[in-house]
Order: sequence, then C-alpha cells, then structure tokens
Amino acid sequence: MPKPIYVLSGPNLNLLGEREPEIYGRATLADVGRLCEARASAHGRALVFRQTNSEGELIEWVHEARREAAALVINAAGYGHTSVALHDALKTLALPVIDCHLSNPAARESFRHASYVSPVASGVVSGFGPMSYELSVEAACRLAAD
Ligand code: DQA
Repeated sequence: MPKPIYVLSGPNLNLLGEREPEIYGRATLADVGRLCEARASAHGRALVFRQTNSEGELIEWVHEARREAAALVINAAGYGHTSVALHDALKTLALPVIDCHLSNPAARESFRHASYVSPVASGVVSGFGPMSYELSVEAACRLAAD
C-alpha cells in the first residue's frame, strides 16, 4: 500500500466559509477536503485530512506524518508566522513538505510576510483559495517517493 498524503490545517481554518469570506472565500474546510480527496485518489493515494486549533496537536501530527506520510501539505495558518517549535518539527521530516495558503500572505500585512514554515518546505502554494490545497496535493503526490 502506498503511504497517504497528510494535509494538516492550523488555527481558525475550521471557520472557513464564515471567517473573512472576502479573503478566504465561502467554501468550507469540508469542501476543501473533498477537493483534496479527489486529487489524491486520482494518484491512487489515500488522504489524511485534519485541522486543529492547538499548536501542540499540530506538532504531534507532524511527528506522526514523519513516520506515516508519503508527503505533507501544511497550512499552519497563524502558527506559520510565529512557531519556532513547528519549524523545528518540520525540519525533522525527510519527505516532501508543501507550505499551503488560501490567501497570498506576501500581499497582506507585513506580520504575515515572515514564515517559519517556508524555509523548511519543498515549495509554497499560496493565493489561489481552495485551489491552493488542490495544487499542493497534486505536488505532494508527484513528489512523493513511497
Ligand atoms: C492563511 C494565511 C495566514 O496569514 C493566516 O493567519 C491564516 C490563513 C491562509 O491560508 O491564507 O489563518 O494561512
């Protein structure tokens, strides 16, 4: 069995569809999950799709992905701009890591320009709304080694 693609989302993304729709759109996280599922299954890959508001839980899941995943897509949301601990956890992974954002943080407030994730990612996909997740899963599947 090929290993699954992990897609992890961080804080406040459970409110997708309700939260600042002018920035993040009307699609819910469940809608995004279905898009990711379709992309992964087109490549014969299973998908693990999770969201948490807790930094510790996100890091536990990164550790799990280290053992279990073929590749990791992560939208760390606000923690991407703040978490050295998440940076350190991601640095331990020997698999493709895609830093994914719905919006384009580089075109927003200056505090969103710093990222603790992108320096330890294989690549970054941002600014395409739910399609950012789809493109990230596509990249994850094509980069995945096992
Ligand atoms: C986000 C961008 C972050 O700056 C923000 O804190 C989020 C969502 C995005 O997907 O565009 O919560 O990661």
